[in-house]
Amino acid sequence: MLLGVNVDHVATLREARKTFEPDPVMASTLAILGGADGITLHLREDRRHVNDRDLRLLREVVPCELNLEMAATEEMLNIALNIKPDLITLVPEKRHELTTEGGLDLIRQKGYLRTYISKIKDTGIPVSLFINPEIPDIEISSEVGADMVEIHTGLYANAKGTAQLEELHRVIRAVQEGLKVGLQVNAGHGLTYYNVSKVAAIKGLRGLYIGHSIISRAVLVGIERAVREMKELIFIHSRSEKRL
Ligand code: PXP
Repeated sequence: MLLGVNVDHVATLREARKTFEPDPVMASTLAILGGADGITLHLREDRRHVNDRDLRLLREVVPCELNLEMAATEEMLNIALNIKPDLITLVPEKRHELTTEGGLDLIRQKGYLRTYISKIKDTGIPVSLFINPEIPDIEISSEVGADMVEIHTGLYANAKGTAQLEELHRVIRAVQEGLKVGLQVNAGHGLTYYNVSKVAAIKGLRGLYIGHSIISRAVLVGIERAVREMKELIFIHSRSEKRL
């Protein structure tokens, strides 16, 4: 099963200071060295985290799957067709949401998406749709010409106890239905080191797309070394002959 690492939150940290670090491009190369099968970024209309420069550089340096998450707008279509990511995942986008809140509204957008997807597919780039774990959404995904779907695991991730088990079964049923209609099926959103095991165990899933939890852990597992390196630097220069 593939792991696509979403590096948006590296850029969120950079944008907190509008500076040059941490760089999602550098983080991506390290994620790939760690075994990531792909890098995902969500280029938002408001560019709140990753930006056009990140996408351009990632296209140059990512040797595995570069998955561009984007809203189905004309602006994003032009950018995507110019950059040519390896995969385009269409997601709903609301300006004031903290993160993508749910899957696409396929019933309302069916006609629009069919035309939009065909424009992408004419260029040979595969299209995935981020959808809720609902059987009708699987059927519509296939009807509108998607190659893949990414099943939204957010409700599973946020539920507890028996409710979580019910949500897991909704995800499993959606995966099975997706495979039945010939789609490749991925899953993602809200997956953590604590809840990933049951989703990773679902038969037939192509891959998982994970961001927040991996970037959060990276901050913690890396902080000890980062502080040690800064201490060393300060120590060396505070005892140097060239003190000012
Ligand atoms: N998949 C999609 C479509 C997303 O929008 C996101 C969040 O950007 C993710 C996966 C990753 O979710 P998380 O950051 O919760 O792991």
